[in-house]
Amino acid sequence: MPPNRRAKRRPLEIIHTAEWMRLASREASVAARVVGLIPTMGALHDGHFSLIRAARGQCSPVVVSIFVNPLQFGANEDFGKYPLTMEKDRTALESLGVDYLFAPESSEMYPPGFRTSIHVEGLSERLEGRSRPGHFQGVATVVLKLMEIVQPNFCYFGRKDAQQIRIVRQMVRDLDIASEVVDCPIVREPDGLAMSSRNEYLNNDERVAATGLHRSLKRARENISHGERNPGQLLGEIREILEREPLLRVDYAEIVDVHTLEPVVKLRGECLILLAVFSGRTRLIDNALITESGRSFVVTI
Ligand code: PAJ
Repeated sequence: MPPNRRAKRRPLEIIHTAEWMRLASREASVAARVVGLIPTMGALHDGHFSLIRAARGQCSPVVVSIFVNPLQFGANEDFGKYPLTMEKDRTALESLGVDYLFAPESSEMYPPGFRTSIHVEGLSERLEGRSRPGHFQGVATVVLKLMEIVQPNFCYFGRKDAQQIRIVRQMVRDLDIASEVVDCPIVREPDGLAMSSRNEYLNNDERVAATGLHRSLKRARENISHGERNPGQLLGEIREILEREPLLRVDYAEIVDVHTLEPVVKLRGECLILLAVFSGRTRLIDNALITESGRSFVVTI
């Protein structure tokens, strides 16, 4: 058994300051233990739990951060009403065997006079970045800070936020950060809706309409398996399915190259179908990965 597994599990320790978190983490790495970090904004659900389980398989200690990062919210967005369920989250983390919960205050992460921000050029302006200017600067800045504080060997992200992963990977490479980014599959509700802390904003009708995102991706998968290779045709049908739902409003629907995030004219290599759709007033995102495999394509939803 690897030494990580033998180490006796301690109860969840909650840490509020960067200094303590850094010390705990440093102690673990001095003992040659493998540190895993899962950055979150709380209101935890099975999507987050899947990342934690993946981390538990590889790392000990496992650190989960909960921080609703003000820098990544636009002025008209939901920062003020983002769900806070700290007690429930804490209990869940305990039962999952997480070692540290890092839950800093905003003033701890951004003390007065804070001035620095990380901008991953080119990848941050498109798609989510066009609809949410400054969003990825906020994400990259907080993720870099969390990585600096925790110094994880592995850092876990969900494929639900495909553009976020692409940007974090670029930052890690560009800035020589010694953490490996691990991406984990999208976890869905039984009816296909991708799990999200924001799903709880949906009323019943909006919740039903929201399944349109997954349905449209499934249709694209079907069409691709029947030989469709034209992104325009695929997107046309996706839009048709989404626009059939009166409560849905498409923000964007694009098929892009996984590396450049630029639209493709033909399926090739690895592409992403990326969707951002409002159901009522709630903005939802979802995606499917298209991978070229010999003469066919595999679509992972
Ligand atoms: P948050 O939305 O809380 O998500 C935390 C992590 O959980 C992200 O990596 C996200 O992709 C993953 N996740 C969310 N829903 C998922 C699902 N249905 N299936 C699989 N993984 C899922 O993303 C953020 O927070 C923030 O931007 C953060 C990275 C913490 C920076 O503030």
